[in-house]
Amino acid sequence: MKILVTGGAGFIGSHTVVELLHAGFEPIIVDNFSNSNLSIVGKIQEITGRKISFYQIDCKLDDHLEPIFLENPEIEGVIHFAAYKAVGESVSEPEKYYHNNIASLTCVCRMMKKYGVNKFVFSSSCTVYGNPEVIPVNEKAPIKEALNPYAHTKQLAEEILFGLCQYNQDLEVVILRYFNPIGAHESGLIGELPIGVPNNLVPYITQTAAGWRDSLVVFGKDYSTADGTCIRDFIHVEDLAKAHLKALMWKNPESNLEVFNIGSGVGHSVQSLIDIFIKETGIDFPVKYGERRPGDIPAIFASAEKALGLLNWKTERTLEEALRHAWNWQQTLEKTE
Ligand code: UD1
Repeated sequence: MKILVTGGAGFIGSHTVVELLHAGFEPIIVDNFSNSNLSIVGKIQEITGRKISFYQIDCKLDDHLEPIFLENPEIEGVIHFAAYKAVGESVSEPEKYYHNNIASLTCVCRMMKKYGVNKFVFSSSCTVYGNPEVIPVNEKAPIKEALNPYAHTKQLAEEILFGLCQYNQDLEVVILRYFNPIGAHESGLIGELPIGVPNNLVPYITQTAAGWRDSLVVFGKDYSTADGTCIRDFIHVEDLAKAHLKALMWKNPESNLEVFNIGSGVGHSVQSLIDIFIKETGIDFPVKYGERRPGDIPAIFASAEKALGLLNWKTERTLEEALRHAWNWQQTLEKTE
């Protein structure tokens, strides 16, 4: 079964492509390498021993995307990862985020319609919940006012998909709301490739542990949590990747759109993550405690019951493994900035 994977060379995309290959699917990667690297395609081939088709294109452009559908009439589904994801950048350059994240979605959906492809898995985020009133947060929680343009593009994308499904009953959409993906492939061959100074916690930790950064700044130690630091639901990227296979195979005769939280169901504080990293790797590094980061919410973690009940998916990897794998990956990298 041929599956088009937009953003397939990215962090979550590349791990998903590996899982697709292991499960016997034929993924086709499209990526403009704006936040990834051609070398990742080779590494996927090294891990799986399989040759893979890939196209360096921009999937928000019809004339880039259409030839791929024409050349691959057997495409049966699309997993759409291609999007910008840096929260801070989305605040300083909102136009870039709205254009890229929405235009790529609508372009892909139009091509799917034109070429009779109906199965669509969308990469959303728990950020759509804003600051939730109840945690663990389940899929019925209200979608609150977006905290930043990145979050808003995810909300808008979900709304567009709801609309399309309402008017096109042939379309089958699964929206996956990811919590905090971390880690790297256990082979150490693929992982996250942050460009410049990382925004996210785990790449910042591994780069500080590697001596690339002077110290990690913990954003806020005065939250009303047990140790005063924020709480998140960290999930191993390999577990997250596997959820996409379950989503592809999901069928519900009653509804052509389903939303799933993809998280572990357990919250860990930023401080506890740091402590576990140090314990697992034996590498200590300087940590400073700074101001709260604007837009951060104190605590969020998933109710992962729906994914377990309907998709038969749950996390299998531990936080310890995720941090060890992130560190293994870090040690293969060379400093760029
Ligand atoms: C954010 C987005 C999420 C997105 C994810 C990946 C929001 C609310 N969340 O998650 O949707 O999927 O990025 O791009 O938009 N921290 C530090 N020091 C650092 C870095 C982070 O203390 O140097 C703390 C943060 O304050 C936060 C936690 O670590 O409490 C996790 O931060 P981060 O990895 O950036 O992810 P989120 O902000 O949770």
